[in-house]
Amino acid sequence: MGKIIGITYDLKSDWQRGGDDPVDINAEFDKPETIERVATALERGGHRVARIGNVHSLLAQEDNLDVDIVFNMCEGISGRNRESQVPVILEMKGIPFVGADALTLGIALDKVMAKKLFMAERIPTPRFFEINKGDDLEKVNGIGFPLMVKTRHEGSSKGISRQSRVEDAGGLKRQAGMINDTYGQPALVEEFIRGEEFTVAVLGNEDPRAMPVVQVSINGHVELGDEFYTHDRIASESLQYVCPAKISGELTSALQDLAVRVYKCVGCRDFGRVDFRVDDLGHPYVLEINPLPSLDVKDVFNIFPNVFSSNYDEIVNKVVDFALRRYNIIDEGSLAASVCLTESLKGLKS
Ligand SMILES: Nc1ncnc2c1ncn2[C@@H]1O[C@H](COP(=O)(O)OP(=O)(O)O)[C@@H](O)[C@H]1O
Ligand SMILES: [Mg+2]
Repeated sequence: MGKIIGITYDLKSDWQRGGDDPVDINAEFDKPETIERVATALERGGHRVARIGNVHSLLAQEDNLDVDIVFNMCEGISGRNRESQVPVILEMKGIPFVGADALTLGIALDKVMAKKLFMAERIPTPRFFEINKGDDLEKVNGIGFPLMVKTRHEGSSKGISRQSRVEDAGGLKRQAGMINDTYGQPALVEEFIRGEEFTVAVLGNEDPRAMPVVQVSINGHVELGDEFYTHDRIASESLQYVCPAKISGELTSALQDLAVRVYKCVGCRDFGRVDFRVDDLGHPYVLEINPLPSLDVKDVFNIFPNVFSSNYDEIVNKVVDFALRRYNIIDEGSLAASVCLTESLKGLKS
């Protein structure tokens, strides 16, 4: 028996860019095609879909929602709690939802908070400091150069351009000032990790499993050196995903083990994705965890069919099954749809 699944989401078109807004203000929001693709996957899994929309639509309907569970894809509009808003409303209303809860989403969005947790669990992450408006840059920089200057609580490479890698005090001042002024938040400054880049998805709850390792290639090269993932590159053909990554079994295991540790460390649920850089000596560093990873068909969750016998539809339905089981509202019918993926997952690392 299928369920009625509500979908909450922010569409790029929900946000009209104001004159002072950064150009990438709506970068994290979804395209209508992505929502429709997820809806189709759920319908193919035997469920009925109700499109709820963003947090305002949710608030308008909160007492009349006729759904068994919500598939939450909302990134929220602004502030470091923005991703937590929909989950907290659903939690208050006692409506089950797929994916991480408000606390995990808040921690993961605020990269400084997440890094402090990683450090507490001895999970390797680049050394860092923060720059607030008016800080004395010489006093805060205990690392040296080159550095990577990012936003403290944005995703989707917002605020990241080729200028984000800085080699001197002038560059640091310029980029940190840009983050402080344009994004209205502290700049997160990290040691720049020269080398290669990977991302590892994780699925499940009691016994989370790492999916095959995906490697980032830029302009046809996986040895990125000083290159990195910028906002402009997301939309271009220069950025490609290679899966499975052509790396040693040892590095594959190390990345998958770390991905599962990070997932557990911040209390992810159902699914997530961990981003890594690996330096020229082969040491992995965790950049961040995405408890609300993109389900765009050009993104990582649509790449696994290349390497294992499960397609996008099965993965989306499997994620829902994990959530239904968590709330104890699973029924055997919907489980059958993902038996094939369950078998594949057994072979993956936990
Ligand atoms: N310390 C770093 N060293 C080298 N490259 C980095 C570093 N931090 C981020 N990057 C590059 O910037 C990209 C985006 O950074 P990330 O921390 O994953 O934020 P986002 O939430 O925008 O994805 C990464 O995928 C990577 O290419
Ligand atoms: Mg990232």
